[in-house]
Amino acid sequence: GMVTKKTYTIGLVIQDIRNPFFPKMVSGVEHVAYNHGYMVLLCNTDEDLNREKDYIATLREKRVDGIIITVSNGIDRAYIAQLTKGDIPFVFLDEIAEEVNCVCVDNTLGAYQATKHLIQLGHKHIACLSGPSTSITNLNRVDGYKKALMEAGLPINKDLILKGSYKADSGYKSAESILKDFPHVTALFCANDFNALGAYKAVVAHGKRVPEDISIVGFDDILDIPANHFAFTSVSQPTYEMGQAAATMLMDMIHKKPMNEPFMTFEPKLIVRDSTSSPL
Ligand code: RIB
Repeated sequence: GMVTKKTYTIGLVIQDIRNPFFPKMVSGVEHVAYNHGYMVLLCNTDEDLNREKDYIATLREKRVDGIIITVSNGIDRAYIAQLTKGDIPFVFLDEIAEEVNCVCVDNTLGAYQATKHLIQLGHKHIACLSGPSTSITNLNRVDGYKKALMEAGLPINKDLILKGSYKADSGYKSAESILKDFPHVTALFCANDFNALGAYKAVVAHGKRVPEDISIVGFDDILDIPANHFAFTSVSQPTYEMGQAAATMLMDMIHKKPMNEPFMTFEPKLIVRDSTSSPL
């Protein structure tokens, strides 16, 4: 029969090494891999799909035993089909696609919790600063936002749902246009904390205060600055556990163990801090 030689290496492709969201996730993957005698090759794409494709091709050439990707063009079916053909097992971490084994947080629930928190504080005009429209993770967050509004009987205004990216400059631009065009808005739900940080800077640059004039909720819980500094209300993801789960799933696939959960969803948790309050 065919001789397959293991390299005891796995690839881990992440989209932004400078986003504090990722280190714990990488650490969860690495700990599990190490315990199984595997080494992790870390690839950073800076959210560039071409770099992602290059890295995956190179990891295949290097004959890694499996690959974990934290982001992918979730709705680009052709790309996913191309990814999953071939004999290397893949796990999607944080992003989801039906064809692939996945580990993610319940993004809809997290966004729902965040928006509901704003509604309970008394906000009626809440904008949504969304992330990349190719990301299912992001689309689910937009769904969660809408769900909370609908449940509270508040109208969904498409003009208040802004498209963007997961970078701070996107949050800045989106917040700026909301402040300019929709002065009645008192709260922003942001698809991630980099967006929230950009939005915060825009609000302050326009002479307004957070949370007195504008409340801001983010996603990821990376702006949890301790002590007396200003910390953000955010939806926390169990990133370490998610990394561990993805690596465990990949190890099971590499060792051809029967898979009982090809799709694992973790619970998000809203952490209320200084960036949200009732509208004045
Ligand atoms: O900040 C990075 C974002 O990309 C996170 O929210 C994560 O869930 C991913 O979608």
